[in-house]
Amino acid sequence: MKPARLTSLLLVFAIFASTISVAAQSRAINRPSQADIEKRIDALLARMTLEEKLGQLQQLDGHADGNFRPEHLDLVRKGQLGSFLNVRGAKNTNAVQRVAVEESRLKIPVLFGFDVIHGYRTIFPIPLGEASSWDTRAMERSSSIAASESAAAGVRWTFAPMVDIARDPRWGRIAEGAGEDPFLGSQIARARVRGFQGTDYSSPDKIIACAKHWVAYGAAEAGRDYNTTDISEVTLREVYFPPFKAAVDAGVGTFMSAFNDLNGVPTSANPFTLTQVLRREWKFDGFVVSDYESVRELMNHGLAATEIDAAREGLSAGVDMEMVSRLFNKHGAQLIKEGKISQATLDEAVRRVLRIKFRLGLFEKPYTDEGSERTSIFNAESNAAARLIAGRSMVLLKNERETLPLNQTLKSIAVIGPLADSQKDMIGSWSGDGKAEDAVTVLAGIKSKVSPQTKVSYAKGCEIVGDSADGFAEAVRLAADADVTLVVVGEAAEMSGEAASRSSLDLPGRQLDLIKAIHATGKPYVVVLMNGRPLTINWVAENSPAILETWFAGTQAGNAIADVLFGDVNPGGKLPVTFPRNVGQIPIYYNYKSTGRPPDVNNKYTSKYLDVPVTPLYPFGFGLSYTQFQLTNLQLSARSIRRDGRLTASVEVANTGKRAGDEVVQLYIRDMAASRTRPVRELRGFERITLGAGEKRRVEFTLAPEHLGFYNREMRFVVEPGEFKVFVGNSSVGGLEASFEVTEK
Ligand code: BGC
Repeated sequence: MKPARLTSLLLVFAIFASTISVAAQSRAINRPSQADIEKRIDALLARMTLEEKLGQLQQLDGHADGNFRPEHLDLVRKGQLGSFLNVRGAKNTNAVQRVAVEESRLKIPVLFGFDVIHGYRTIFPIPLGEASSWDTRAMERSSSIAASESAAAGVRWTFAPMVDIARDPRWGRIAEGAGEDPFLGSQIARARVRGFQGTDYSSPDKIIACAKHWVAYGAAEAGRDYNTTDISEVTLREVYFPPFKAAVDAGVGTFMSAFNDLNGVPTSANPFTLTQVLRREWKFDGFVVSDYESVRELMNHGLAATEIDAAREGLSAGVDMEMVSRLFNKHGAQLIKEGKISQATLDEAVRRVLRIKFRLGLFEKPYTDEGSERTSIFNAESNAAARLIAGRSMVLLKNERETLPLNQTLKSIAVIGPLADSQKDMIGSWSGDGKAEDAVTVLAGIKSKVSPQTKVSYAKGCEIVGDSADGFAEAVRLAADADVTLVVVGEAAEMSGEAASRSSLDLPGRQLDLIKAIHATGKPYVVVLMNGRPLTINWVAENSPAILETWFAGTQAGNAIADVLFGDVNPGGKLPVTFPRNVGQIPIYYNYKSTGRPPDVNNKYTSKYLDVPVTPLYPFGFGLSYTQFQLTNLQLSARSIRRDGRLTASVEVANTGKRAGDEVVQLYIRDMAASRTRPVRELRGFERITLGAGEKRRVEFTLAPEHLGFYNREMRFVVEPGEFKVFVGNSSVGGLEASFEVTEK
């Protein structure tokens, strides 16, 4: 079958199958009303012993392979363990649940949590990759598939989405989030929460989401994981909080407190963030789980001298459930006895945990159907969706002389590089229950795409890390013989994610030399990048004819990459994060503040570097296509609006090239002068559209007070009168410009 036909067949199948899963959703349990839930909690609280209450606040870790630890069953039987992480598979979760609901005194079900970050078994692109699609519907869909696979395996709670804004690519966990921008990050947070939870998470194919890591974890100093943060309240409110607020507005069930110290008060003991903002201002009524042992780590931070102090700090600040360390459990009774924690504080934490268990329908339906696990996990539908979403996530960074798309009639292709045939790397870090053996590599994807007449040769060339260039000669020989070469390079999967910070963002090992050796053949080649963060690739950007950023694209990586390389999918992704020229430019992000001395090449005494331009290598929002788009005729619906007014901005987008393609139209604003300085640009709207060759469309955005306001010196959100600029374009640089006035009355 022709590959293009296969893709469309898979698409039809995916659409058909998604109707089936929507039907499954409607089997939500008959959830009790909120008032009933609170009454049932009251009744339970009245009967619970202190140990049983503290037990609800404890989460313990099973085995990495998904099994539970037999010694934990005894705690469950005594009603002293509310939740597990990593225990998964319906057989395992049911075995534990049976003890909870049939053998414990109060029959309170346990809640199973797991890191379902970009898929459960069917692995989608890493979140930073998916964010590059700027396609919130696609992300909602992948989260919803992840939810149904996870729920089928007995796991009704994911520790996702990770919504940390990250402006430092040295930080390995940038891979897990949506990049640097609060507006894009908020839209994605909302989409992911909706995807995981649906409109009613008591539905058996839905799971509760967890917005993490609350908060500012992504700002770890020097990009070193777990490091300290010191951030003003206004920056918290404008940059780091918004995606969390979006998650609350979307109804997220849980939050996870973070590892980092924030302004001297670690986030797992911070009453300002946990209680003042989250509970009081935002009225969040779900529960907060600590991060892994972050309550015990309060002692390492130097906030608590003893375990008992750490327990008091965490619980009184607003952490409801403790992950893995057991200080609430061990010391809770003494804290209550000594009056250091009130009964009301304890009951409030227990109430929040029970509320989520009730809302999930766990009391009515504690078990998972072991039969449906086999059929609903890793099926054709989820794989088709993974391939489509991976294709939409790729960013074309360079394409000189139309090197891409490749011609299907090529006689020979050399596939070179340490990542070209590495299944384990395709699925990236935090790959849930994903299996390397399920993953399609680039080599496999290319082989199944081309006709039998095309010769596909392969050589590794070198390892990802290490000094050896022994494989270069073979790689160069194959490249010299081939019509085109794909050089697949980047980072190993484990070089991003948790505890994977890097101080250099260069291609590791000898990979750049490998590219240079292929370049020296003078034959056409394409650099296919796989990485969990922006890399510093100046030589490649300058010299290589074509670059495709694929991140870690998941189970279907190789097929999706082949779809894009051969033009069955026209790339339309855009960078959700800035690519610096070198590490010394970090932090570098598009929504910076102007200085008193903006960079001026003719004036030494302006804000710049002696040795590198101030501009990035690739800006936020950037990405090319195989076709061209032209934006014209930016119109605003008014020249001036009142502070509470709205206005629309519209632009005409035309596909002026020869093939259909996608463009992400982006709208930015700048408040030209305000009582607190504003960034030079702020993203306030975007839409990914598909246009056929020669097709035109008007795209419209609305600007409302929530887009125009900011936190003033009194920390009030206000829209101030004055001039605003509007920029509409296809990246954070350039674009069409207009302006309007906000008036007092
Ligand atoms: C990570 C969390 C994760 C948790 C459970 C921690 O080390 O920081 O993001 O959810 O482990 O696996």
